Amino acid sequence: MTPQEIRDLHSKYLFPAVVNYYQESLPLVRGKGTSLWDADGREYLDFFGGILTVSLGHCDEEVNGKIKAQVDTLQHTSTLYPTPPIVLLAKRLAEIAPQGSGISQSFFTSSGTEADETAIMLAKIATGQQEVIVQRHSYSGRSHLNTTLTAHANYRPLPSQIAGVKHIHAPYCYRCPFNASPTTCDLECARDMKELIETTTNGRPAAFMAEPIMGVGGFITPHRDYFKVAVEIVRAHGGLFIADEVQTFARTGDTWWGIEQYGVQPDIITTAKGIANGAPMGVTMTRPELAKKWTASTISTFGGNPVSCTAATATLDAIDTRGLLANAAAMGQRLRARLEELQARYPLIGEVRGMGLMQALELVEDRKTKVPAKRAIAALFEEARRRGLLIGKGGLYGNVVRITPPLNVTADEVDRAMTLLDESFAEVTAKVPA
Ligand SMILES: Cc1ncc(COP(=O)(O)O)c(C=O)c1O
Repeated sequence: MTPQEIRDLHSKYLFPAVVNYYQESLPLVRGKGTSLWDADGREYLDFFGGILTVSLGHCDEEVNGKIKAQVDTLQHTSTLYPTPPIVLLAKRLAEIAPQGSGISQSFFTSSGTEADETAIMLAKIATGQQEVIVQRHSYSGRSHLNTTLTAHANYRPLPSQIAGVKHIHAPYCYRCPFNASPTTCDLECARDMKELIETTTNGRPAAFMAEPIMGVGGFITPHRDYFKVAVEIVRAHGGLFIADEVQTFARTGDTWWGIEQYGVQPDIITTAKGIANGAPMGVTMTRPELAKKWTASTISTFGGNPVSCTAATATLDAIDTRGLLANAAAMGQRLRARLEELQARYPLIGEVRGMGLMQALELVEDRKTKVPAKRAIAALFEEARRRGLLIGKGGLYGNVVRITPPLNVTADEVDRAMTLLDESFAEVTAKVPA
């Protein structure tokens, strides 16, 4: 099919709400490693990885080999029957759960939306309480509950649908909701949890759910002590802490879980995206004493299906045996250094933030006023595409560049991508007046 045929069918047969990047969308037909090819045969360096999902790059031979063998052995059973892939994955997840968390049991679904939905329901069941606290700027997915949890107006097709969801300020240091600066900060955003609970709930929340680094929010990266303070307050009021690791899984450098960077134990973890290198997989993990409180029957037709479980276990094994947690730290450092060099040269870059291979640039028209640079980011995307580099976008104002190559990215690929990004910034700076 030609690119235009693909675009025409997309406009005719898909919901118009399905957002595509770029002025003229980019139909893709093939991927291998860090490369993607469009319908004209043009190659791109993929530094967004299908939204942080192809942890090992596209079409990894080892993972795909195991997927193909599983498809030909046993493709589907539903959760009504135990299979080797579902139990092996659950065991593997228990082995890599944060040490000391006691987390060892999993429930499998097919998406991050379902993983978060399961976690919130579990927290309500386990505590017998109804109210949940999430953060402004967070993203949880697209179900009725999750669009209420999600704190971006443009991802909420309806007003809040579910009662008892409270939104605390985000730990957004670059645009501090308490007007603090790094020198005056007393973690007001975390301490506000007490007043939020005492004034907007019945004082007994079921849970606080948060992303260790806010993904769709534009990689808002909390202060290292944020979770210690916020979670302690939640626990003092009887609530559980859910770490939403849908984006942070294996990406923040040296650890499997983003929350391990903050020295805080979660009660429940959710993950999806990068855990199965592109196969549909959602996971909700917790301690046995919480899991057993869910006494109603539950099934998931596709959750824990043998093919996705095989893909996930193969991805976990590959991350382990190829040393990719360490690579995420090393390549993350290299990437960060290059991004900071760009920031020194382009006033458009207001902030560089993130951890490991989860790095972002917040673009502003002026560093003092911090007005989101919406025109410039649109132009940057076009320039990067023209040069063969794919990057991601995020942030409430859509002015944050998200850079998330596969965990096995090489130094040469990081350097090539940064050269292309540098050229793109140069072009945008010349063309788009601030
Ligand atoms: C932090 C977070 N939680 C949940 C979700 C929902 O995941 P899914 O799109 O797989 O339903 C996302 C998706 O981007 C996410 O970033």
